[in-house]
Amino acid sequence: MTSSNRRSFLLRSSAAMAAAPLAACAGSTPPATTTPAPTSTSSSTPAAAPPERPLAIGRAGSAPLDPPGQKLGVGGTQLGSVFQATSDETAYGMLEAAWEAGVRYFDTSPWYGLGLSERRLGNFLDDKDPSEYLLSTKVGRVLYPDADAGQIGIWMDENHFGHRYDYTAEGVRKSIEDSLQRLGVPKIDIVLIHDLAPSNTDLDDYEAQLRVAMDGAMPELTRLREEGLIRGWGMGVNDIEPALAAMENADPDVILQACQYSLMEHEDALQRLFPVCREKEVGVIVGAPLGAGYLAGTEHWLYGETVPAAIAQRRERLNAVAARHSVDLRTASLQFTTAPDVVFATIPGARNADQVRKNRASMDVAIPEAFWSDLRAEGLMHADAPTPA
Ligand SMILES: NC(=O)c1ccc[n+]([C@@H]2O[C@H](COP(=O)([O-])OP(=O)(O)OC[C@H]3O[C@@H](n4cnc5c(N)ncnc54)[C@H](OP(=O)(O)O)[C@@H]3O)[C@@H](O)[C@H]2O)c1
Repeated sequence: MTSSNRRSFLLRSSAAMAAAPLAACAGSTPPATTTPAPTSTSSSTPAAAPPERPLAIGRAGSAPLDPPGQKLGVGGTQLGSVFQATSDETAYGMLEAAWEAGVRYFDTSPWYGLGLSERRLGNFLDDKDPSEYLLSTKVGRVLYPDADAGQIGIWMDENHFGHRYDYTAEGVRKSIEDSLQRLGVPKIDIVLIHDLAPSNTDLDDYEAQLRVAMDGAMPELTRLREEGLIRGWGMGVNDIEPALAAMENADPDVILQACQYSLMEHEDALQRLFPVCREKEVGVIVGAPLGAGYLAGTEHWLYGETVPAAIAQRRERLNAVAARHSVDLRTASLQFTTAPDVVFATIPGARNADQVRKNRASMDVAIPEAFWSDLRAEGLMHADAPTPA
């Protein structure tokens, strides 16, 4: 599909989605059973009227977010109790505050808290008009019941599910079906192939899994899009290579690129990823814009156990420049990730209501040009990195 076709297709598919029976994808299979997912879905006639809020993920510089142009969504790892157990009250408080502040894009995954993030997000969205929000979730891990699973990895709640990787077409259908049931909402807008990346040490044989996805998950997601059951698909990865591979070998609409574009580290994405996204009109969603918290002042740098000395030193230098200009480093970090034309959204995770309100407020702060030019002059920002207008 060419870029201009993709644009008009997205308009059609989002209209079709409003009319299409997503139940065909949701099916009636209980989560994590061995019942096969449907391999075909009912056809749908695209509705004639264009959607009120077209999905513009392939269109550089525009976004279907509210207020328009703000490019701010919210991540879903905290809803899954990443790094610390997060109570229902805190999680729902964060979501309420996000909604009140006008945030309308929510990202989640089956992996985040082994279903917990999707369950909480779905409960929250239950009484919301589906046309008012944008929702992405992920495929690649299928959950199955495991009463004794306990605490797994960075997900700090007790949980009752295990997971297996599955990047096949059938795995994608099964995962989407399970997600729809956990979420309990009538649609998923964007589906991202999750953690198919060389840095994912939990994954056996990245190259082999990539081939599975190229034969299975990727063409299947294109089919689901063409059937009008999702609005777009892409990769949700921490490395650049799989994003490039998907754009070279398949037809994604969007790349959720985590860990590669922040004020701390951005050269590689700027030079190798963004030009390809621009050429193919693939939108970028920036994951971990705060480096998993480090640029907001926490001691978590991405998802490792320790903070590398070079990163700690760089934060000190960034903080020194920020202090000189009375700029808040978290605010600058968030705005920085929204500046490139290819970026469709940045999705900082927020632990609670206070954090999400502050992140929303950060988008309205005027940052002096002298701050950015000092960062450039001190070699703390790439010369070609765009800065907010
Ligand atoms: N492979 C993938 O697809 C992938 C990978 C990574 C991320 N993602 C997506 O990107 C989203 C964002 O990544 P992330 O949540 O891991 O990292 P992040 O957005 O870089 O950082 C989130 C953390 O920053 C701190 N924070 C946020 N707002 C704050 C505020 N106003 N004041 C003080 N601290 C604040 C909080 O730390 P504390 O909780 O410690 O207070 C919060 O948990 C994820 O939720 C997920 O949706 C996707």
